[in-house]
Amino acid sequence: MLPISLYIISALIASVLGEPRVIEPPLRVDLQPPPEYQRSSARNVFQSWITMPIDHFDPQNQNTYQMRFMFNEQFFGGDGYPVFILVGGEWDIAPGWLMAGNMFTMAQENRGYQIYTEHRYYGQSLPYTVFTTENLRFLNVDQALADLAYFIKELKKQPRFANSKVILYGGSYAANMVLWFKQRYPHLAVGTVASSGPILGEVDFTGYLEVVHEAFRSEGGEQCVTTIKQGIADTISAMETEEGRRTLESVYRLCRPLDYDNKYDLGYFAGLISWTFSGSVQRARPGTLISICNNFASNVYGVTPMEKVGGYIAISQNMSPNGCWSISFDTLLNVYNATRSNSRAWYYQTCTEYGYYQTAPRSGTAFDQLTWLSVDFYVEVCKRVFDQRFDEAFLDDAVDRVNLIFGGLEPNVNNTINIHGAIDPWHALGVYDRDLKEGSPTITVPRASHCFDMQGWLTTDTIQMTNAQQTARRLVASWLSE
Ligand SMILES: *[C@@H]1O[C@H](CO)[C@@H](O)[C@H](O)[C@H]1NC(C)=O
Ligand SMILES: *[C@@H]1O[C@H](CO)[C@@H](O)[C@H](O)[C@H]1NC(C)=O
Repeated sequence: MLPISLYIISALIASVLGEPRVIEPPLRVDLQPPPEYQRSSARNVFQSWITMPIDHFDPQNQNTYQMRFMFNEQFFGGDGYPVFILVGGEWDIAPGWLMAGNMFTMAQENRGYQIYTEHRYYGQSLPYTVFTTENLRFLNVDQALADLAYFIKELKKQPRFANSKVILYGGSYAANMVLWFKQRYPHLAVGTVASSGPILGEVDFTGYLEVVHEAFRSEGGEQCVTTIKQGIADTISAMETEEGRRTLESVYRLCRPLDYDNKYDLGYFAGLISWTFSGSVQRARPGTLISICNNFASNVYGVTPMEKVGGYIAISQNMSPNGCWSISFDTLLNVYNATRSNSRAWYYQTCTEYGYYQTAPRSGTAFDQLTWLSVDFYVEVCKRVFDQRFDEAFLDDAVDRVNLIFGGLEPNVNNTINIHGAIDPWHALGVYDRDLKEGSPTITVPRASHCFDMQGWLTTDTIQMTNAQQTARRLVASWLSE
């Protein structure tokens, strides 16, 4: 509770002082617990720590760190009943995920023990407290999967779990993790549920903004994307005259004029626009994009197309009336150049494993015009905040390595439920149009976005969403009864 209220207070102070605000690309996902959980049931969730090798692959390295996990045994049936592990990704673990959501329901239905593990280098699970590039070398998925294997091995030493079957559930990057874990350590888990996993690494990820465009089109209609496209086109034309520039700066609420000769500053400005649209889509519930498009059609955000885009950004980013955006590449670099943060750790993983860079498409979308959002832009961050050697060729090799060892879009994995949302931009890097194999079905839910099957049932859910959640629960129950 304390960090949240501190956050609110500092946000309030910032809004009073009109302090500049910084925006980050939606590269890192911060999975928020299901909103319907009851805070009062937090008494069922406990936190603990396990001593973990820092390097699972070098027996000569005996260093360890403390990995955090949470658990809830309220439904546990006793010896041999199943264990459900929610696998943490690039965020802090939080008790709410063991108090509601689809895995919670599975545990309830199968008298299971619930655990939530924290990923190394995130939250409080810190092999090092200072994230120099040197200290980040043990941050990779191979080590994180080995952490999970080691965790399950230690867990099974307790007699009550010796005969328990283990189910893993993960969303976003953690969906990759559970799928890859089942592939690499099939003897340690009977099955996994992978929600919205972008299992193919890709440096130049144009598909992301293509899905964002398509989501606004399919939900809000052709007129909506036409307005957005016009607003962006007008913004770019405005950059050509002094008068246009002043209009742009006021419409977008910039703290000071942009450096119109700096392609990286312009990349960050292009990000302010595209990342806001991306955020709306990635978090969309049925109806969210329709109401945004209704606001574009009426004059809620502004009158001209450019004003509409600028107003939409201010409103959806909760910009205070006298707040402003600080748009310079250095501001962005500072976010990732922190001594230690989840954002820095995840950016490191994008530079050394996945890419995932949400670049301007080249297929006629509203976002094609934002050409400053290039691979060069994102890779420059890798070079400047980690190591000059992290250039484009380095990234291509790094991503090839991950795709080679895990199989890219052709993983060979049993007992995995592979769930995607049709308007989730991340599905473009997953398998969404065919089953992984017999016994590992794919369920792609229309109109759903990122990881929403992980939540509990909501009145706004579509029938297809409810069906997907039920199908996952039925299949998991069948693995447990085999
Ligand atoms: C990041 O921080 C280090 C250490 O404080 C500093 O030397 C370096 O110049 C910073 N890099 C950027 C890109 O700001
Ligand atoms: C999947 O299960 C089948 C049937 O039990 C088995 O023959 C096969 O080896 C398994 N594949 C993997 C990759 O574990």
